[in-house]
Amino acid sequence: MAVMTTATVYADFAAGEAHGVSPAYERLAEAVSRDDELIALLDQLPEAKRQPNLLFGVVRWLGGPVDEPDTFRAYALANWAVISAAMRARATQTNEAGRCAVLLPVLAALPQPLALLEVGASAGLCLYPDRYAYRYGDQVVGSGEPLLDCAATGIAPPDALPRVVWRAGIDLNPLDVTEPADVAWLDALIWPEHEHRRDRLRAAASVAAADPPLLVRGDLVDDLPALAAQAPDGATLVVFHSSVLYQVPQPRRDAFVDVVRELAGHWLALEAPDVLGLDGLPTPPAPGFHNVLSLDGTPLAYARGHGQALTWFAPSLTP
Ligand SMILES: C[S@@+](CC[C@H](N)C(=O)[O-])C[C@H]1O[C@@H](n2cnc3c(N)ncnc32)[C@H](O)[C@@H]1O
Repeated sequence: MAVMTTATVYADFAAGEAHGVSPAYERLAEAVSRDDELIALLDQLPEAKRQPNLLFGVVRWLGGPVDEPDTFRAYALANWAVISAAMRARATQTNEAGRCAVLLPVLAALPQPLALLEVGASAGLCLYPDRYAYRYGDQVVGSGEPLLDCAATGIAPPDALPRVVWRAGIDLNPLDVTEPADVAWLDALIWPEHEHRRDRLRAAASVAAADPPLLVRGDLVDDLPALAAQAPDGATLVVFHSSVLYQVPQPRRDAFVDVVRELAGHWLALEAPDVLGLDGLPTPPAPGFHNVLSLDGTPLAYARGHGQALTWFAPSLTP
């Protein structure tokens, strides 16, 4: 497979992920992709640390400007030592409760009750699909907060929430929504124009703070079997992950798939189309970035990155 240059990564991010979703990040990423000086600085970082979301999140976290390329560039060059140190120390851990709107149709269709185990859980905000409310077009499911909007096609939304009796997560660096520093980092990772996502973060964080999940510091391959063994009998174990495996090297992704397939229960994934090498994917419903929802390795639907749209293409709800 051809290795992407850093300039191409930024150009693709601008055109694929940020276009139509964050005009500010689209402008910044486009400008960075053509900026030899910034690209040379980024190329001094390990490859996994060069991502647009990490650079822009760190600059936001430091209080730097992210609206216009010129002021961003001046700030980045003047403060590169502190920016690059923070990029080396941190990772993108965006925790997007909105992705629960994409997981919900499958979770609601599985035998209840559920024991949820999320790998790459960040602060665990996707572990509360039963506590949030959802609006699919004009159909509302649940009555909690936040209310998650999702434009769904090809599927009838569930008419009831799942019943969750156990929730646990693994992360290399679990975040704690009761720690102001962790919430500040989660906030910095939200794209500039997305005030609705900031409101959602606050609402979902209060749900998690009121009933904290079991969050384990560990690796999604090495530490999964021991945590899964703690799931209660009499519940359907669902191991799930969203927007995680792109951060995991290919040999470890393969090892994870081997481990998760050995477990009793189901495996629900919401990941970029290329990371799991799934066969038989149809053409995405629109230009721009999409994740693929799959259950036990069978692809079911495309979804926009933050759970704002779901396009079902599988013949049935579960394989
Ligand atoms: C982009 S965040 C996604 C968080 C959450 N799944 C969501 O959709 O909101 C990816 C998370 O995966 C975690 N992660 C990456 N590699 C991991 C590994 N090998 N084991 C456990 N967690 C990992 C990161 O620390 C980060 O918190």
